[in-house]
Amino acid sequence: MVSFGYISDKKWETSVFMIQDMEKLKNRVERLSFIFSWVRLFYPKAKGIPLLFILYLFVPQKIFRFNGSVPWPVHFTSRILFHKNIKVGNNSAPGMTANGYVQARNGIQIGSNLRMGPGVGLISANHKEDDYDIHLKAPPIIIGDNVWIGMNSVVLSGVTIGSNVVIGANSLVTKNIPSNVVAVGNPCRVIREKKCYKGIDYTRL
Ligand SMILES: CC(C)(COP(=O)(O)OP(=O)(O)OC[C@H]1O[C@@H](n2cnc3c(N)ncnc32)[C@H](O)[C@@H]1OP(=O)(O)O)[C@@H](O)C(=O)NCCC(=O)NCCS
Repeated sequence: MVSFGYISDKKWETSVFMIQDMEKLKNRVERLSFIFSWVRLFYPKAKGIPLLFILYLFVPQKIFRFNGSVPWPVHFTSRILFHKNIKVGNNSAPGMTANGYVQARNGIQIGSNLRMGPGVGLISANHKEDDYDIHLKAPPIIIGDNVWIGMNSVVLSGVTIGSNVVIGANSLVTKNIPSNVVAVGNPCRVIREKKCYKGIDYTRL
């Protein structure tokens, strides 16, 4: 037990250092933005996204062309389909974290400051049950401002998620979720109200 505690403490310390290092690196890159700012020309819809993330994803995306035509930064393990049907607000880059899957056949509207954990899926269209080559029409997925979608969650077609919402990890969002709540589970249900968001107001950039 003692050694377990010791290892945990060490791991915790390491991760705290890593986060601090990341912040330092982010600040350093932002200070040198006059050298790197040209990369933003490749990302017309990345307002508010830190330059460090854009630089990290630039080579796989814009040189090796993994999701190369998407105008916001996307991780090379993620997949964005029908990106022209996606509207994104400031500091929102669906697919920027690993293993995302965003299918926007019926459209997806996203507000400002969306945080998507790894492995999240946004799936706007279903296959027809008796012919999988046909996709069914549905209303677009709509996601408000200041929404955090936890790791491995899936949002299904036609769903609206309000503003200032947390969706718990591994949730399956099949129905609309109102604003100012925390919702979790499969199917995703509201578990409590959420206080107002106090971070940066990215809608005003
Ligand atoms: C949603 C979340 C933020 C809630 O955290 P919290 O406020 O501390 O919630 P609690 O741990 O107090 O849980 C409250 C209840 O909801 C349940 N619950 C919490 N998260 C859940 C989830 N993702 N799925 C199902 N049930 C969940 C808990 O079991 C608990 O149930 P109980 O009251 O019956 O015991 C957190 O659980 C979560 O899922 N975080 C996502 C982390 C993530 O994906 N990060 C990715 C990096 S971006």
